[in-house]
Amino acid sequence: MSEWHGDAQRLTQKQQVTLAHNLKRKMKGGLEVTDEHFDLLFSPDVRQYSHFHWTPMHVALKASEILKDLKVERLLDVGSGCGKFCAITAILGEIQVTGVKQREFLNSAAKKIRNFFQLSNLNFVHGSAFDMSWKEFDCIYFFNPFCEQKTPERHIRNDVPLSEPLYHTFVQLTHSRLREQKKGSRVMTFHGMGGV
Ligand SMILES: C[S@@+](CC[C@H](N)C(=O)[O-])C[C@H]1O[C@@H](n2cnc3c(N)ncnc32)[C@H](O)[C@@H]1O
Repeated sequence: MSEWHGDAQRLTQKQQVTLAHNLKRKMKGGLEVTDEHFDLLFSPDVRQYSHFHWTPMHVALKASEILKDLKVERLLDVGSGCGKFCAITAILGEIQVTGVKQREFLNSAAKKIRNFFQLSNLNFVHGSAFDMSWKEFDCIYFFNPFCEQKTPERHIRNDVPLSEPLYHTFVQLTHSRLREQKKGSRVMTFHGMGGV
């Protein structure tokens, strides 16, 4: 596996495929994988947001254990970003994982890592989470997806509408979506979903 040389490191596609193969083998074998190594699967312009915006490895590992215990079959990550959480849970579980995100550059990063890992149980939808049904999922995951709306210093890019009123709209919409979920459905959050 290649050495970590800092945020600007850019691997060739061939190196990324080899890295993904090694990371998958390590994760499935229960060996430690650091965020720094995993994040080398992303280009620096995606990796720069990792610290604040992408679920850390140790949290995704814990989530995978919980999902297994709860026998979750179909998970939706609302605001899946570059797909880091989705890829880790799809590698570690017998589970169908779907991620939905709005930004084109994150959509292509997510599709790339799905291909690097060759995951047939992972699917990405490009668009707003509220433009799709959540009903087929028995677990919905949120890593505080709407926080960017009311925290200008956390803006990823100004390529989607961002405003505090939109934050409240999204939280309200989430509440009504969750009320419509099948009885027994699960909600998993990391730093909440913005509401109660
Ligand atoms: C904190 S990041 C979490 C990313 C990913 N879930 C993870 O855990 O690594 C939240 C993401 O949600 C996205 N997001 C916010 N509102 C959204 C919406 N209405 N539809 C789709 N994605 C949204 C943001 O653009 C951001 O990429």
